[in-house]
Amino acid sequence: MKIAFAGLGIPKTGAYVVAVAEGREFSAAAKEADKLTKGQISRAVKTSKFTGKRHQFLNIVAPHGVECDRIVLMGIGKASELTEHQAEALGGNLFGHLGKSSDKTITVAIDGISGAKLGAASIAAHFAVGAQLRADRFDKYKTKEKAEDKWSVEHFHVLCDKSAAAKTAFTTLEKIADGVRLTRLLVNEPPNVIYPESFAAHAKQLTKLGVKVEVLDEKQLKSLGMGALLGVAQGSVRPARVVLMHYDGAGKAKGKKSGPIALIGKGVTFDTGGISIKPAGGMEEMKWDMAGAGAVTGAMMALAGRKAKVNVLGAVGLVENMPDGNAQRPSDIVKSYNGQTIEVLNTDAEGRLVLCDVMAYVQEKYKPHTMIDLATLTGAIVVALGSEFAGLFSNNDELAKNLSRAGDAVGEKLWRMPLAEAYDKEMEGFQSDLRNIGSGREAGSCTAAAFLGKFVEKGVAWAHLDIAGTAWSKKDHGAVPKGASAFGVRLLDRFIADHFE
Ligand code: BES
Ligand code: MN
Ligand code: ZN
Repeated sequence: MKIAFAGLGIPKTGAYVVAVAEGREFSAAAKEADKLTKGQISRAVKTSKFTGKRHQFLNIVAPHGVECDRIVLMGIGKASELTEHQAEALGGNLFGHLGKSSDKTITVAIDGISGAKLGAASIAAHFAVGAQLRADRFDKYKTKEKAEDKWSVEHFHVLCDKSAAAKTAFTTLEKIADGVRLTRLLVNEPPNVIYPESFAAHAKQLTKLGVKVEVLDEKQLKSLGMGALLGVAQGSVRPARVVLMHYDGAGKAKGKKSGPIALIGKGVTFDTGGISIKPAGGMEEMKWDMAGAGAVTGAMMALAGRKAKVNVLGAVGLVENMPDGNAQRPSDIVKSYNGQTIEVLNTDAEGRLVLCDVMAYVQEKYKPHTMIDLATLTGAIVVALGSEFAGLFSNNDELAKNLSRAGDAVGEKLWRMPLAEAYDKEMEGFQSDLRNIGSGREAGSCTAAAFLGKFVEKGVAWAHLDIAGTAWSKKDHGAVPKGASAFGVRLLDRFIADHFE
């Protein structure tokens, strides 16, 4: 689908979309269309339930007095409440509404929305990127798709009086969208296609954007002493990898604080549970147990793509968790990178074992001031928060607040959860320093976070995002099609843009 920005004017073909605010308040374009059609628009509104509520649409087919094939009224809700994220979601939902219609061209007029706080150029740009992201379908394995199930739209035109400014804003947003698409691809791909080595090969592509990509293989991981991560990987025929992505957009002297921001991702390319095997029903969902690593890789692409002035290190731990004659057993004791020993009481609590080694290594070697990890870590967070919020754990109130705000701004919401001594105690080992699960099923997300906390060094501002409930969308909504959501990419990009550039 080709996206273009242009000045206002009624198109000769396809669907022409005009905005109506809540309370049936017509935008200038809607008023003009009403006039040209001799009141057909206002009549259609009167005979319908359309009120202009956000995400409501009303189609007027074959309108009089204009050449285009249909006019679509788009409800935008209260104009004063329209945010960047909502403009994006609106663009996505409009595309969902019209993408499979007979129209090859969609033209949207963004103008004369009285009371809007956002400028027309900004609305237009976010609108366009939302439509583009919603159009992003993972259909490469469909060999027999029916024509009516495919997107018919080829051109998406956004009209506003500041089309040059809209285009400039869109250019930056497109770089972020590139990151979102990479994450979605990595997460949507099946686990026979994406496994540690093939994931690492995808990450290598970032070299083109000026990211230095380092891939550590099993031999290196072994000599470094990443025993916790390797313990998880040992049941799989697919060897583990750790990928380090270095992006130095701020250079050496400029960064106010020393060291980079570190982004750490859980990359379990498939999680069977290992010997503590999961039930068959729903196990297929564990192909997206690498969504944390996917989000980190996509965020690196977004930052490098838009040439962010910041130094960031992305690090992902890639393993496959399989049961096998060589798999680790419940009660195995492994040694982590920083020397702490861990009793593996449940091989299905593997994400923390992967993360702890990567976190310890990154802190020792690169001295980050801020470290954020993303992981589909616990089923318990899904029980607690569903898909509305990801869980946020942090040892630093400022960092927690800034991440939450960034999440609100981009529609990737976080809810803060507690770190506490009682959970720390739960994770102390019997015959080892640590154990990898708590003593019962209670507070599973909190005990998992407490375990990770044992690997955070003094002075490092750390946040852990448990994205188990938000990494995958069960339905199409806004700019997110059903499937991998790429949760975290926009959030991290925004957080860095607002606080570190
Ligand atoms: N990858 C899972 C968590 C998960 C569950 C992600 C559902 C997405 C959807 C993780 O490795 C896991 O298995 N966690 C266990 C931990 C338990 C054994 C302490 C869980 O949540 O049941
Ligand atoms: Mn697991
Ligand atoms: Zn897992």
